[in-house]
Amino acid sequence: MVAKNTLISYRQSHLRGTLLAHKDIPGDKSISHRALFLSALATGTTEITGINTGEDVEHTQLALESLGIHIENVTPQKKIVHGLAGKSLLQPTNPLYLGNSGTSTRLLGGFVAPFPIRVTLYGDASLSQRPMRRMITPLRELGATFETNDHETLPLTIQGTSAPVGIHYKVPIPSAQIKTCVLLAGMNIDGVTSVYEPTQTRNHTELMMEYLGIPLTMIASEEGGVIYSIQGKKPFQAKNIRIPGDPSAAIFFAVAAAITPQSNITIRGLNWNPYRRRAYEVLQQMGAKVTVLDQSMSCGEIIADIQIEAASLNAVNLEAFEAPSLIDEYPAIAVAAAAANGTSVFKGLRELRYKESNRLEAIFKNLLNCGIDVRADDDTLIIKGTGGSPIFGGITVNVFKDHRIAMALYVLGMIARNPIIIQGADCISSSFPNFHQVFANLSFMHAA
Ligand code: S3P
Repeated sequence: MVAKNTLISYRQSHLRGTLLAHKDIPGDKSISHRALFLSALATGTTEITGINTGEDVEHTQLALESLGIHIENVTPQKKIVHGLAGKSLLQPTNPLYLGNSGTSTRLLGGFVAPFPIRVTLYGDASLSQRPMRRMITPLRELGATFETNDHETLPLTIQGTSAPVGIHYKVPIPSAQIKTCVLLAGMNIDGVTSVYEPTQTRNHTELMMEYLGIPLTMIASEEGGVIYSIQGKKPFQAKNIRIPGDPSAAIFFAVAAAITPQSNITIRGLNWNPYRRRAYEVLQQMGAKVTVLDQSMSCGEIIADIQIEAASLNAVNLEAFEAPSLIDEYPAIAVAAAAANGTSVFKGLRELRYKESNRLEAIFKNLLNCGIDVRADDDTLIIKGTGGSPIFGGITVNVFKDHRIAMALYVLGMIARNPIIIQGADCISSSFPNFHQVFANLSFMHAA
C-alpha cells in the first residue's frame, strides 16, 4: 500500500501521447495571477478561461475576494471577475493567508500599497522564510508602511497609504514579481511610476497591460535593460483573457520524454513566450528532438504545439545571464543533465536559494543521494551525467515541500532501476494538482 502523500516513480519503457493545455497541462501560473489582479482593477467584467487550478492561484483569488473583489467560479478553470472600476479596496476583516505562493504575496503587496487599508499577510512554513525586503523597499518609498520582524519575512502587516507618490525604482535583483509589484502599485498612483529592469525577466505583465490598453510605455535604457513607465489612475475596459498551458509545468514531461528511450510526446497549447521557452531550447541543445508544430497568438502571448522525442542527450553549459529565463526549470533541466553524456555546468544560481525551498541545495542533495556525481560550488552546479546508464534508485527522497523538486525527482525515476519514493508529494498541488494522473496517461507501465 502506498502511504498518503507519497508518490512512487517507476522506470518506464517509453512515454507516448498527446497532452492538451487545460486538460492535461495546467494554465500558466504566472499569467493566471496577473489575469486576476489586472481584471480586478478593470471597468466591467472579465471572463478568464484556462486559469491554473493549483493552490497558489487560488490563494490570489481568495485574497482578492477578501479585499472586496467579486469573483464568480463558473468552472474550476473559468472565472468571471467583476472589476473595481476605480473604487477602493475594502479593509479585510482577517489576515490573508497566501499558502506557499511568493507570487501572490509580492503582487498583493503592490496591489494593496496605494489604498488606505491595513492588511496582514501570512503563509506556510516555506513562504514564511522567503525574503520580502525586495517587496518592502519600493513600497515604503511610495508611502506604505510595514510592521515586520527583523528578517523581514512573513507574517507582516502592510499599512497602505491614501497619498501614494510615484517612484522610479531600479530592480536590484532580476525579478518579474517585483517589477509587477511596482507596476501594480503604479496603476493606482497619480502621475508616473517607473521601473528600471537592468536584466529583463518574463514579460507577461507588460503584454497583458498592452492587451488591456493600460498606459504602459517601455524604453530601452542606454545602460542596458528596459525602463517601464505607467500612468496611474487611468480607467481601462475589461477584456476576456484566455490563459495558455504552463511551460514550467510541461517541462517535466518534456524532460521525461527526452530521457526515456523511444518516447514521443506532443504538448498542445503551450505558452511559448521567449522568456519561458528557454528550457525547451536547452533540451534541444542537449540533443533532444524538439519540434514546434504550430504557433499562434492569444491575448498578446505566443502559443505553440510542440513535439518532444527521446534522444541520447549531451551535457550543456548554462551561463549566469540565462538564469532569469530558466529560473523555474532548473530542477527539470538538472535531471536531464543527470541522464546526459558528460558534465554539465549551471552558473549563477544564487536566486534558486530563495524559491519554494533552497532549490540549489535541494537539487544537489537529492541528486547526490540518488547516486549522481554532482558538486555545488558556491552558486554553480556541476552535474556529471550517467550517459544513459540507470541509477540504482530504491531510495526515499525529501523534496523539502517544494512542488518542482518533487516533480523533478519523479522524472529522475525514469532512469532508476528501482523506484524512487517521493515523500511529501502533496506539495505538487500548489501548481499541478493532477500531475501524477497525467504522467500515468503517458506511460505504459503502471504501479500495481
Ligand atoms: C514569477 C517570477 C519568478 C518565478 C516565479 C514566478 C512571476 O520569480 O520564479 O515562479 O510570476 O512573476 P522572481 O520574480 O522571484 O524571479
